[in-house]
Amino acid sequence: MSYLETTKDIYKEAALTPDVGLCCTTNPIWELPGLKIPRIMQEMNYGCGSTVHARDLTNNPKTLYVGVGGGMELLQFAYFSRQKGGVIGVDVVDEMLEASRKNFKIAEEQNDWFKSEFVDLKKGDAMHLPVEDNSIDVAAQNCLFNIFKADDLKKAIAEMYRVLKPHGRLVMSDPTCEQPMNDDLRNDERLRALCLSGSLPIADYVKTLTDAGFGTIEIRARKPYRILDPKHYPTDELIYIESIEVAAIKDPMPADGPCIFTGKAAIYYGEDDYFDDKAGHVLLKNQPLAVCDKTAGALAGLGRDDIFISESTFHYDGGGCC
Ligand SMILES: C[S@@+](CC[C@H](N)C(=O)[O-])C[C@H]1O[C@@H](n2cnc3c(N)ncnc32)[C@H](O)[C@@H]1O
Repeated sequence: MSYLETTKDIYKEAALTPDVGLCCTTNPIWELPGLKIPRIMQEMNYGCGSTVHARDLTNNPKTLYVGVGGGMELLQFAYFSRQKGGVIGVDVVDEMLEASRKNFKIAEEQNDWFKSEFVDLKKGDAMHLPVEDNSIDVAAQNCLFNIFKADDLKKAIAEMYRVLKPHGRLVMSDPTCEQPMNDDLRNDERLRALCLSGSLPIADYVKTLTDAGFGTIEIRARKPYRILDPKHYPTDELIYIESIEVAAIKDPMPADGPCIFTGKAAIYYGEDDYFDDKAGHVLLKNQPLAVCDKTAGALAGLGRDDIFISESTFHYDGGGCC
């Protein structure tokens, strides 16, 4: 049996018997005015961050969510779109689709604005999405892609790229790990399916996105996630896993490479009111400008003693250069 089949079995079980804490989150559940998340959806929250950001959801975007789980984030997306079929949910596990369908019925009872028809549930695989080319504004996945091995991950990301409209956004949350993991961990199908042993270093994760053609990447959050310790896992050393929230935007690839925002800012503190690098970046005196890593490198390369460049904070929330 392949690890993909093991994964399906684990989530079939998780659909039939909700398992709080199976995978993944310790994030607080957020609610908005008039939005009530049913308890069963909270118990079936198998994500490791949030992919629902109000700033992505202006102008009635057509949304796709792959790997539906209990349906919580689809309900949150539907809160913003509120129209028939406004959110497409895709999952490969029948039992998970069925469980989320039931959960949407409960959500209907608890939210007078919500109708189950706002969510269009489809059976399908992340590697072969049942969705037309260039038809989606916002695509999301939470804690699924980290499970995939390299070739499958490449296919899943290429699929998201295919279905997104130009300038559409792929919003994701996944565990990441900067330490090497041994083969016992990597090849343990259950640990992989539970989002514990498939995670990549952030730079590798970002590279899979830029290799697929996404011209802009935003790392929006980075948080502590799990520890794999030698007493409980097949490892000689303690392994620290984090989770990140990332958006990959289907902007054309700039000639000088992708714009990757990792939460750096540049601050000009010289004698003038502003500094203009004549390459499209104007730094007002003592005002931080969010910069992508490429611009940060170019500004640092000027060798000036009146421009400060911060380290990556891994918290980017819009604006700035590019
Ligand atoms: C870790 S859970 C995350 C669920 C949900 N995103 C959340 O945040 O609660 C992974 C989800 O992906 C689904 N899944 C597993 N393999 C899949 C595949 N190859 N294609 C699509 N969905 C898949 C599972 O059934 C499950 O719903």
